[in-house]
Amino acid sequence: MQSDRLPGHPHIAYVGDELFVEKTALSTLAQQYGTPLFVYSRASMLAALATYQQGFAGRQVQICYAMKANSTLAVIQLFAKAGCGFDVVSQGEMQRVLAAGGLASRIIFSGVGKTRAEMHAALKAGVGCFNVESEAELVALNEVALSLGRQAPVSIRVNPNVDPQTHPYISTGLKGNKFGIAHERVVQTYQRAAALPGLSVLGIDCHIGSQITQESPYLEAMDRMLDLVEAIEAAGVPLHHIDMGGGLGIDYNGETPPEAAGLWRKLLEKLDARGFGERALMIEPGRSLVGNAGVCVTEVLYLKPGEQKNFCIVDAAMNDLPRPAMYQAFHQIVPVKPRATNAETWEVVGPICESGDWIGHDRVVSVAQGDLLAVLSAGAYCMSMASNYNTRNRAAEVLVDGSQADLIRARESYSDQMRLERLLT
Ligand code: LLP
Repeated sequence: MQSDRLPGHPHIAYVGDELFVEKTALSTLAQQYGTPLFVYSRASMLAALATYQQGFAGRQVQICYAMKANSTLAVIQLFAKAGCGFDVVSQGEMQRVLAAGGLASRIIFSGVGKTRAEMHAALKAGVGCFNVESEAELVALNEVALSLGRQAPVSIRVNPNVDPQTHPYISTGLKGNKFGIAHERVVQTYQRAAALPGLSVLGIDCHIGSQITQESPYLEAMDRMLDLVEAIEAAGVPLHHIDMGGGLGIDYNGETPPEAAGLWRKLLEKLDARGFGERALMIEPGRSLVGNAGVCVTEVLYLKPGEQKNFCIVDAAMNDLPRPAMYQAFHQIVPVKPRATNAETWEVVGPICESGDWIGHDRVVSVAQGDLLAVLSAGAYCMSMASNYNTRNRAAEVLVDGSQADLIRARESYSDQMRLERLLT
């Protein structure tokens, strides 16, 4: 049968007259598990990982999946089995990695506001490295490590002051951001860290932003990082690894981000040219591993044509798909079973009581009440950012492998939502 792949989504295609993820029809999954429903392609996640692995062939590199992009246990398990480590930003994320069978020694613990309780738990678990973001945090970590009679492995997150040319909410490596240690203070911060008995200095890291679609910010950041490595080592602090963070973008709406393998070939050339070819590397990709592996299937509840706008009200909302409301983000919306009738222009909106609850503006599609739509590029920063606003149950998730589909998260129930609450006595 004719298969019509969606550009940028190699494992999502129209087969005959309906949309499939790998060899599984989305309509069948929606019937079985209800909507809204997140559906992920295993092959797509592994293919995205493979492009990084190809770029790094023969090098000493640890790929640490930034699990904030999608922290569902089975997704973590898949990447752990494929050899990944994990970038975590809370004790909760660390617990998820351990529950999914990931190795503590391959965890990097990032984040600007780790509590002492989190440091304590991570040291006991034996995480591979703490990415420290301030001098005050170094002091706290040193104290917690000494109280346990240990040394904490640390890397210092530096702020390379590079413009990632992305949305202001997701650029992190500029001077005005809360992240990392300012360029000018880096060497003295390393000297201070090296002198603290509870710390063992391992590396240096940066993360310049997210949904980066150009090569140049990475090349620039690598140059600045290598300048810093030279200065830090000249000041007497040897570094074992360089962690370049994550941030590579995906195709949401025709963007053409560099391919991981090609980008890394260029970055590795730079390392070689500057004499750092043997240095251990780490990276922390999130979105680029899972973003285009996922769709959110939603049912059209009502059509409400109007004088100014036509509203297409669907059963997914900003609590399931927060990116449009938060970042004015664009996600493609396509019919699961396209209709032959004329397309009209719709505001695709959810049922939540806020005008900000929109999923797509001015979408040209032919729809009828009861149809299923698929919101694309929903594998990253959707379910992991989902909420219960309006006391809506969080959606179910399915992982597809060919024609096999596994329910990896059951739909939440109202009793799940109310479990921790108590009435006044
Ligand atoms: N490492 C660190 C230290 C990070 O802060 C992040 C993302 C990553 C790695 C992974 O970045 P990625 O490869 O996924 O771009 N919710 C926003 C994105 C926030 C990203 C935060 N940090 C969105 O939906 O666009």
